[in-house]
Amino acid sequence: MNEQFKNDVLDGLSANPKFLSSKYFYDKIGDDLFVQIMNLPEYYLTNAEMDIFSNKTDELIAALNCTNDRPFDIVELGAGDGSKTIKLLERLVDRKINFSYQPVDISQNALDGLESRLKTELPNLEVETQQGEYFEVLSSLKNTNRRKVVLFLGSNIGNMLDPIAKKFIDELSSNLNGGDHLLIGIDLIKAVDIVLPAYNDSKGITAAFNLNVLRRINSELGGDFDLEKFVHSPYYTEEEGIAKSYLKSTCNQEVFIAALDKTFHFEEGETIHTEISRKYNDKIMQSLIQDSGLQMCNKIMDNKEYFADYILCKS
Ligand SMILES: C[S@@+](CC[C@H](N)C(=O)[O-])C[C@H]1O[C@@H](n2cnc3c(N)ncnc32)[C@H](O)[C@@H]1O
Repeated sequence: MNEQFKNDVLDGLSANPKFLSSKYFYDKIGDDLFVQIMNLPEYYLTNAEMDIFSNKTDELIAALNCTNDRPFDIVELGAGDGSKTIKLLERLVDRKINFSYQPVDISQNALDGLESRLKTELPNLEVETQQGEYFEVLSSLKNTNRRKVVLFLGSNIGNMLDPIAKKFIDELSSNLNGGDHLLIGIDLIKAVDIVLPAYNDSKGITAAFNLNVLRRINSELGGDFDLEKFVHSPYYTEEEGIAKSYLKSTCNQEVFIAALDKTFHFEEGETIHTEISRKYNDKIMQSLIQDSGLQMCNKIMDNKEYFADYILCKS
């Protein structure tokens, strides 16, 4: 049993208000649901960043200084299915650039899928997967003296509260050397009628993804959550710029979790906060990287200007 999962569930469901970390969405079922989310018409984020990776690939390569002057490693944090990154990898291979690719993800299932896809599509590419939590893998960046190009796509950073995101960037920067680059993909602040449907699709896939954390508690920790008695409840305002997802109890109920030997009470309408997806602008990005030792070197946007890939350089 995953002790960390058990402890985090105990902490989150004992808190007031209750919360659970979004990192627990991702197991085999959660990974598959997220791939379905990426293909939803409402989930504009993937198409927007795919537009950059497909149509501005050479611009990305130039901004990241990917040349044969110095061999480098591309390290991708939270790589998922890697569908956007593959566009960049293909172009680099076509251009006979010398590099390795090191995807990192908390989900071994996601890494296995990505590795087998790369074996077929880019058989000569050197790939080294690493399973782990973002914060835990940062120190391993310093294990070699090869130049690093770190990718953090999909606005994954938006799942962290600002102080945690700042700490993450500071820690990441302290593990980089002069000449290394960091590409952060972020979703830009925009109107509620564009953002909210991305977290509340008409087919209910996002709802199933959110509820997956309760299903995992049932199967991995012996919980008896009745998934019919919780509903997905998303929230966003353009003023605040943060999409928030909750699971809301539809009645007064008790839930027993065997691994914790504990019963949790839920009032009707009580929520479990499961995810934040922060949206950004230049000012917020600038405040996140302030004093980190990273400089903003470039910003590449999709054709609708919904999404930006910021290129940060370590001097
Ligand atoms: C929203 S998906 C995005 C995937 C990919 N970056 C993209 O843009 O399509 C987030 C990915 O990050 C991984 N992930 C989530 N939280 C993580 C954490 N704390 N540490 C490492 N990986 C994490 C998930 O398993 C998932 O594959």
